[in-house]
Amino acid sequence: MNNGKSGTAIITGASSGIGAATARSLVAQGYDVVLTARREDRLDMLATELGSSAMALAVDVSDRDGMSRVVAETLRHFGGVDVLINNAGTMPVASFAEADMDDWDRMIDINLKGVLYGIKAVLPHMLRQGGGDIVSIASIAGLRATAINGVYAATKSAVRFAMESLRQETGRSAIRSTIITPGAVDTELEASVTNSNVRQALETTIDFKLLDPSAIADAILYALAQPRNVCIGEIVIRPTAQA
Ligand SMILES: NC(=O)c1ccc[n+]([C@@H]2O[C@H](COP(=O)([O-])OP(=O)(O)OC[C@H]3O[C@@H](n4cnc5c(N)ncnc54)[C@H](OP(=O)(O)O)[C@@H]3O)[C@@H](O)[C@H]2O)c1
Repeated sequence: MNNGKSGTAIITGASSGIGAATARSLVAQGYDVVLTARREDRLDMLATELGSSAMALAVDVSDRDGMSRVVAETLRHFGGVDVLINNAGTMPVASFAEADMDDWDRMIDINLKGVLYGIKAVLPHMLRQGGGDIVSIASIAGLRATAINGVYAATKSAVRFAMESLRQETGRSAIRSTIITPGAVDTELEASVTNSNVRQALETTIDFKLLDPSAIADAILYALAQPRNVCIGEIVIRPTAQA
């Protein structure tokens, strides 16, 4: 923590959806935030809205060294890193028969490797300072495999397993590892679906009101606000009407 602030949080995928909502909520709770994603214009707009509590840094989470540069720049600018929120993700799902293998690579690189690179980048600093919070956004797709979303589900269940290992490895170093597992949320994620059959299917199967991204931000804040000896391992949060 620094300057009487709640702490400094790095958020990946902060240019839209859950990441942007989380940035707004964290700043309202007294955090400094580092907004990262690829679309610099969107990050700059949000940073301007949030003022001196926010800094924007363009990074691709699938770049092996990208998050290390973000951590170094965060330490230089804000003097600490207390929270990492691994949120960046993409969902170009399709059946195995119709899938484009480049989409598989993208999902594995962003949803899984991106989370791992983020953890690796922030961990030495958190171990040195004797604590911190690592929050990763998984998905209910990672709880139960269904047709069409095989590789997306595989990345999200892999994140859940990696995070649980991390929790067991680093709990005694006062690092809390929290998995946030959302159901359907109203964001730009659907735009990453490239397969027209899947797009059509989504339009007919989602016949309930999606969650506002602020509901996910609230869950993250709940986990962060607990006393340091309380670790919220996982929060599953869905629209009430979602199966
Ligand atoms: N929406 C849902 O129903 C839902 C449900 C369960 C889980 N989730 C998970 O929630 C997380 C956030 O997604 P969202 O729903 O808020 O969707 P979104 O609005 O599409 O946001 C995704 C974010 O990830 C960033 N991103 C994508 N590829 C990236 C890369 N290579 N490097 C850095 N940033 C990258 C995007 O920014 P740029 O394009 O600017 O890089 C964007 O800010 C994802 O992990 C998603 O899987 C969403």
